[in-house]
Amino acid sequence: MKAAEKGSWRIYDEENPIPGYFEFDWLSSRFPDLYHEFAISTIGLVNKLHTIIDFSEMHVLDVGAGTGRSSIELSKRAKKVNSTDVYRSVINFGKNEIQRLGIQNIEYTYGDRDKLPFADNSFDAVIFSWAEPNYIEAYRVLKNNGYIIQMASIPEAICGEITDVLHGTNSYDQKIFLSSYPDEFEQRDNTVFSSIPLVGLVDVHRFTYLSKYKSVEELASIVGRLYGPKAKEYFTTRKQDTYSWRNEIRIGQVLK
Ligand SMILES: C[S@@+](CC[C@H](N)C(=O)[O-])C[C@H]1O[C@@H](n2cnc3c(N)ncnc32)[C@H](O)[C@@H]1O
Repeated sequence: MKAAEKGSWRIYDEENPIPGYFEFDWLSSRFPDLYHEFAISTIGLVNKLHTIIDFSEMHVLDVGAGTGRSSIELSKRAKKVNSTDVYRSVINFGKNEIQRLGIQNIEYTYGDRDKLPFADNSFDAVIFSWAEPNYIEAYRVLKNNGYIIQMASIPEAICGEITDVLHGTNSYDQKIFLSSYPDEFEQRDNTVFSSIPLVGLVDVHRFTYLSKYKSVEELASIVGRLYGPKAKEYFTTRKQDTYSWRNEIRIGQVLK
């Protein structure tokens, strides 16, 4: 997919969306700048992850790295980051961003999560940040004791605080989106990672993160383009420039 001209996502027809309109992979590859502006929740996820794991001596693989948000944040603490994605336009966007910021410890290459272009036992950690996982491939490229990490919003509120508004549902207590809502921790068995062999249980961390945007108008434009008019109206009527997410980080250590 060829990237559209920067900023062109701002001109669109909400009532007659073109195919792919609400598909994230399509949108991010067509409008990488839009995805990059939107993906602030990734900063919250990686910042939290840095409080849990010390990556300073680790070689990390970021699968489905997109426009580079997750890799850029990881690179601030990790020894080295390899980033992969399958859409050339987001890879190009990410590479430009990494170069613009003068980051030296990220190598961004084409790579399909289902056939990662790396040898067995290559990495200390594999990360799927807001990306579809392939646990078996992650297991293959991880070293013994390496970390498998999956992070995104909690599954029951995949669009963050506007999930119920968008879907007309009542699937969570709205209080979980208050910044004061407490963190939660639990452990689960390896079935959450398709039963790949693990050293112990899977650690599951839940926390609330408020993505802060430049202005109410900017946030409304971004979510309007991504989720449609209801989302735009939600932030405009509240005059709100933050977007709250209840996030979840799952961490296991593989046994080889
Ligand atoms: C929602 S984005 C996440 C980007 C980034 N990790 C972040 O946290 O902001 C998901 C990414 O997965 C990529 N993707 C889709 N199919 C893939 C595949 N088979 N292998 C690798 N990446 C893929 C998409 O192109 C997209 O950039």
